[in-house]
Amino acid sequence: KKVINLGLAGFGTVGTGLARIIQENSDWINRRLGKELKIQKVLVRDPGKKRSVIPGPETAIVTDPQDLVHDPQVDMVVELMGGLETAHSLIKSALKEKKHVVTANKALLAEKGNELFALAQEQGVGLYYEASVAGGIPIVQTLKESLSGDRIRSLTGILNGTANFILSEMTRKGQDFETALQAAKDLGYAEADPSLDIDGLDAAHKLVLLIRLAYGVDYPLNILPVQGISGASSMDIAMAAEFGCTLKLIAQVREKSGHLQAGVFPALLPNDHILAKVEGPYNSILIDGNAVGQVMLYGQGAGDLPTGSAVLADILALARDNAVPNNTGFLEKVLPRAEVIRPEL
Ligand code: NDP
Ligand code: HSE
Repeated sequence: KKVINLGLAGFGTVGTGLARIIQENSDWINRRLGKELKIQKVLVRDPGKKRSVIPGPETAIVTDPQDLVHDPQVDMVVELMGGLETAHSLIKSALKEKKHVVTANKALLAEKGNELFALAQEQGVGLYYEASVAGGIPIVQTLKESLSGDRIRSLTGILNGTANFILSEMTRKGQDFETALQAAKDLGYAEADPSLDIDGLDAAHKLVLLIRLAYGVDYPLNILPVQGISGASSMDIAMAAEFGCTLKLIAQVREKSGHLQAGVFPALLPNDHILAKVEGPYNSILIDGNAVGQVMLYGQGAGDLPTGSAVLADILALARDNAVPNNTGFLEKVLPRAEVIRPEL
């Protein structure tokens, strides 16, 4: 097939970012892939809303998920709507129709990943999710493929762009929490429900996905200790600075004597710590593998184009001829003991 028709469920920050990249890089994409990517259909809530980007000259706009998923012309479904129930049933229907699915929905995968990955496996199709962890940073591919032979000793990361942006604005510009949060919303970094960002749950969703990739373990979200930054005040920031430290929201997992210890915490990092220098919507992940040693990834963890870039990479991987989907890497389903940790930095 010379054209891959995409069905985009959601045309907000990430959906419009993806459409822009497809338009701007179309020549390059077509040459690399040997096929054309076309946005066939877009699902939105409000078809009358003014959009900053036009998805394509012939793109149909629909409001019923069924119209998108069951359209025989749609080859691949790209879920960028967020939320749980509608996204869940849309992805299930698409997989049952043997359509590859690409999603950025970490909340859904952290909750229902087992069921959805199993269904994708059963149907012989891909359920890819690079954009769901750390926006434009290729951490999923790195753990699934590049470091798959290593035993991962630990992963330590800044995984939420909104929280990091807020803390940076408070530190650099002396802004108050609410003003910085509003700016993160305006820039498209925050979740539809921003309490997920500031209460640490979004980072927790991402950490659960990273644990699955790095250890082959399904770590239940409900036993993960999670603390966010919602109580952070200008006074906390000032005190941290006085001690030569920077306040960061850290997500960490490490293996200790056969047990996984994991958690999401605000932490005071010495100013010369490498993660203390990660600012704004940027994310970073430090990986410690027993063969490779330390690897660090850094890049924009939120926003339209960085996240669209990761979505597009998944689409291209699945659109290649003879693509054999590798959905989760390796999953042994060992349930670890829950252990509350303090980050070791
Ligand atoms: P937005 O809120 O900007 O966009 C959501 C889109 O989905 C909108 O177009 C909306 O329609 C549509 N939509 C939502 N619910 C429904 C529904 N029930 N029926 C039909 N259409 C619906 O979200 P984002 O683009 O920011 O995020 C999308 C996903 O990507 C989320 O899962 C998020 O967690 C994830 N993500 C976001 C990142 C970011 O930087 N923003 C980064 C990484 C992942 P309408 O436009 O009419 O309102
Ligand atoms: N709200 C998320 C963040 C988007 O700020 O990191 C990227 O996953």
